[in-house]
Amino acid sequence: MKSVKALAPATVANVSCGFDIFGFAVEAPADEVIVTLTDAPGVVIKQITGDDGKLPMDASRNTSGVAIQAFLNKIGSESGAEIILHKKLPLGSGMGSSAASSAAALIAINHLYDNPLSREQMLPFAMEAERIACGSAHADNVAPSLLGGFVLIRSYAPLDVTKIPTPPGLYCTLVHPHIELKTEDSRRVLKSSIQMRDAITQWGNIAGLVVGLMKPDYGLITRSLQDVIAEPIRSVLIPGFDAIKATAMKFGALGSGISGSGPTIFSLSTQVETAEKVGEEIQKRFIEMKLKSDVFVSRINHTGARIAELE
Ligand code: HSE
Repeated sequence: MKSVKALAPATVANVSCGFDIFGFAVEAPADEVIVTLTDAPGVVIKQITGDDGKLPMDASRNTSGVAIQAFLNKIGSESGAEIILHKKLPLGSGMGSSAASSAAALIAINHLYDNPLSREQMLPFAMEAERIACGSAHADNVAPSLLGGFVLIRSYAPLDVTKIPTPPGLYCTLVHPHIELKTEDSRRVLKSSIQMRDAITQWGNIAGLVVGLMKPDYGLITRSLQDVIAEPIRSVLIPGFDAIKATAMKFGALGSGISGSGPTIFSLSTQVETAEKVGEEIQKRFIEMKLKSDVFVSRINHTGARIAELE
């Protein structure tokens, strides 16, 4: 039977001001999914590694399985698929772990069928998988993981997704403290309505970030990487958040915030040396709080999920 392996990258959703509407992909880490077509109908998860047994083996509850089943339904296939998932992204980290698994699964199954669908056409299947994973079909992780780049979800109904050009020399530092936060829980703590003055501040920052990235205007990027809606509420779930953000700025980051629903902290810098130093210093703050962490530094990944060689 034909098998194919695909990789899909971690992503930073929200990017401070753009709750549910901004996200970008990074180079690493990336989930690995191996998909094999089967004559028998149905999607089966054969093996999952790297999740400490935490992810469901039931394909209808696993993001890779849900995404593949939605793909098979769409193309009217009566065949099935077997999935092997090698989790490389930490769970509950705010790095788009559930999204990376569904994005890789979709790229793999589409390839096995000779690419009948575009990446944009597969986006709703990955969003459906997000709904299964955390109760909300947000696209700000799945879109950049699938499409690559810095993505704006201008509208959800109808779905309208576009890429925002970014300066080539932009580096992202991700520091993942070893705490698990479920997206579902981090969404539940948010308020269902916001004050007009906060909305105005947020709109200004959203527009400012887009202009700052496109010009590029680094001062404008710094001023715009502010979130007055989700961050003030969610940051209490991340030990030492204010000190960590201050550390990133002190060591030269353009800006810093919660990656997705946390607890990972993202920072943007214009030099790789700054991005590495910021990672090192934030890690020191976590060590002071007796927390282990992992640091990832990379450019923005413009390719998104991709087919890889089967070993
Ligand atoms: N926009 C989503 C949230 C991203 O912040 O809940 C989750 O990774």
